[in-house]
Amino acid sequence: MAGTVILTGANSSAGLHASEHLLKTYSSYTAIFTVRNVADNDENTNKLRAIIEKYPKASASIHELDLADLTAVHKFATTISDSIIAGEYPAIKSIICNAYYWNLVADPELTIDGFDRSLQVGHIAHVALILRLLDSFNPDGGRIELISSVLHYRKKNPVTNYLPEIPDDFDLFIHPRPDPDKFGRGYQRYGTLKLVVTTWACPLNEYLQKDPRFANISVVVMNPGNLGDSRTFRTNTPMSIQLMQMFILKPLMPILRYLDPIYRTSAEAGVDIIELGVGQANNGERGYYTFLKKDEPDPVALDKEIQHKIWVKSVEWARINKENTALKVAFK
Ligand SMILES: NC(=O)c1ccc[n+]([C@@H]2O[C@H](COP(=O)([O-])OP(=O)(O)OC[C@H]3O[C@@H](n4cnc5c(N)ncnc54)[C@H](OP(=O)(O)O)[C@@H]3O)[C@@H](O)[C@H]2O)c1
Repeated sequence: MAGTVILTGANSSAGLHASEHLLKTYSSYTAIFTVRNVADNDENTNKLRAIIEKYPKASASIHELDLADLTAVHKFATTISDSIIAGEYPAIKSIICNAYYWNLVADPELTIDGFDRSLQVGHIAHVALILRLLDSFNPDGGRIELISSVLHYRKKNPVTNYLPEIPDDFDLFIHPRPDPDKFGRGYQRYGTLKLVVTTWACPLNEYLQKDPRFANISVVVMNPGNLGDSRTFRTNTPMSIQLMQMFILKPLMPILRYLDPIYRTSAEAGVDIIELGVGQANNGERGYYTFLKKDEPDPVALDKEIQHKIWVKSVEWARINKENTALKVAFK
């Protein structure tokens, strides 16, 4: 077997297409699909089950993993690591961190761990998962793929006046203050989450390269595009965004993508997520991508001081220390 691929948010809009592309195109891999809810009344998880049924020869399983619960994330990492040691799964080839959370109609929400839900689901939980599972990777190396967005750029956009920002007071990351402008601030928190993810990839790549055991594990960050058909525009969004999807994003997609190729479908994004995360897992490339093309992230993500601060706080928030990760070099 070629190795294990872990995909979070496997029942997301892009995740379903990524899952199918993985099973269809890279059938020698073992797929571990994680979802927040495995109940048989979850329509999105049922869509994932239906995809798996189409590929009876594939090795694929669905695992419940609520990324808003760090204890569950650490427990899941232990289970996977133990199963790999026991030979139940092959060593890991790729971890693809696709799940995320936003809420554009409510005040910031805290998880049971006391962190902003958006930051925990989209970043902190993935930090824990990755750093706990490094020594379960194939000794030949592999790939870690983080999913970012064009919204991580600190550039004005038509939707909100607030740019993504790394606050001086890091407590504002994990405990953002309520604001009357729930939509604008929720959108900003999303952009900031993606800026944090993009920035964190840089020190992770550096530490991996410093340890000969992990130097062949490469980290890439992908902007998958603006996915006009994603259910994201119907999840925790105001009616204006839902109507925009119904009357503009979906029907006018051919025109939008002609005007700006960043607009595309979840299916196209799902295929590229697997191509970059699995198909190209051994090419040793690192860094930021738009679709499958190497690109430059926002300059903030390349700021060494900010990278260091984000690294230090991320491992602390994720409850990672030199005892529970194999990446000892990061704690010297
Ligand atoms: N959609 C876009 O236009 C766009 C643009 C740029 C980048 N992206 C990025 O592309 C990726 C996929 O986007 P998408 O549009 O496919 O997303 P989506 O359809 O909105 O799905 C979000 C996924 O995250 C999961 N999730 C939320 N909270 C979770 C939790 N507590 N624990 C575990 N999983 C949780 C959801 O599961 P439940 O539904 O069960 O909660 C769902 O599977 C994301 O990283 C997104 O930021 C998307």
